[in-house]
Amino acid sequence: MNILGIETSCDETSAAVVQNGRVISNIISSQLIHRDFGGVVPELASREHERLIVSVVDAAVNEANIQKNDLDIIAATAGPGLIGAVMVGLCFAQGMAYALKKPLVPVNHIEAHIFSAFIRDDSDTPPPENDFISLTVSGGHTMLCIVNQDLSYKVIGRTIDDAAGEAFDKTGKMLGLDYPAGPVIDRLAKNGNPKFHHFPRALTAQSRTSKSYRDNFDFSFSGLKTSVLQYISTHDSAYIERHLSDIAASVQEAITSVLVMKTIAAAEKYGIDAISVAGGVSANSRLRHTMQEACDRKGIRLFTPGIVYSTDNAAMIATMANLKLERGKTEPNNYDVAPFASFRG
Ligand code: KG4
Ligand code: ZN
Repeated sequence: MNILGIETSCDETSAAVVQNGRVISNIISSQLIHRDFGGVVPELASREHERLIVSVVDAAVNEANIQKNDLDIIAATAGPGLIGAVMVGLCFAQGMAYALKKPLVPVNHIEAHIFSAFIRDDSDTPPPENDFISLTVSGGHTMLCIVNQDLSYKVIGRTIDDAAGEAFDKTGKMLGLDYPAGPVIDRLAKNGNPKFHHFPRALTAQSRTSKSYRDNFDFSFSGLKTSVLQYISTHDSAYIERHLSDIAASVQEAITSVLVMKTIAAAEKYGIDAISVAGGVSANSRLRHTMQEACDRKGIRLFTPGIVYSTDNAAMIATMANLKLERGKTEPNNYDVAPFASFRG
């Protein structure tokens, strides 16, 4: 069975083919146009998707070495995301499915991240076999969930303000780094001291209030932004420039330490011995390293998708459609699907 996945929720135009549950092509075209603006410009994102979608889908089908008529299912992100961007991919998928007389499967982008530990390719890493705690950290979302094998999940924590990826991108912008700043901070931090400056860890036992945050699985990163802004305004630019790697490492530590702390605490509270980390920020090397160390200490199994499947990609969309079909969770014959902007868990 060949499933074509299409993903256009933000600034990546992506198409992939999953054959009998295994990824055989995954084309990702990242829109560089937004760099000049320091963030994603929604209207430009839609126009870029419109410009690229035909060639990206053709490339995915060609690389899979099949014809469009060999496709059995067309799957596409229906949301959440930038609504105009989502519409380009979803409408394209609707048109293609209708023309080829193939069923359409709409996919929730965040659910595709949550279940990205199930993506199969040549590397053959096994997926979780039992319930697991999922940390989904992207540019738009930061969520902790308890996930069951029947594809149901319960959100136990989420950000009350900025997402973890936003915290990377916005603090990076303050430090004069290119968009998206997450990977740049990751790179810079490799030569920096994470203990150079202690930026705040909100809603944890390390935050300054006396309240107990023991069972609080929500996140907050807006205070970190203010703290970085204050730090920059009280140090001259030559000092900031000289210590850029140390500051990047300290910011990264503030974000990743909270993510690790809360995810491990959730696994312990709910007695679950498996954790999966997904979404763009899961590409972060410090997060991967410290989460693995913490899991090893606690005897917890850690599942992380390959780096290429961390940031937005269509392989996770096609894989999610495959999981939904395998587990009887979708009726794949309805072309009448509305795009949506916000998360509906
Ligand atoms: O999942 P994703 O590709 O798009 C959304 O659904 O938002 O995530 C993008 C986010 C951006 O904020 C980007 O800065 C962050 O993921 N990111 C990283 C790294 N690679 C991407 N953050 C920290 N370290 C990285 N290596
Ligand atoms: Zn995403």
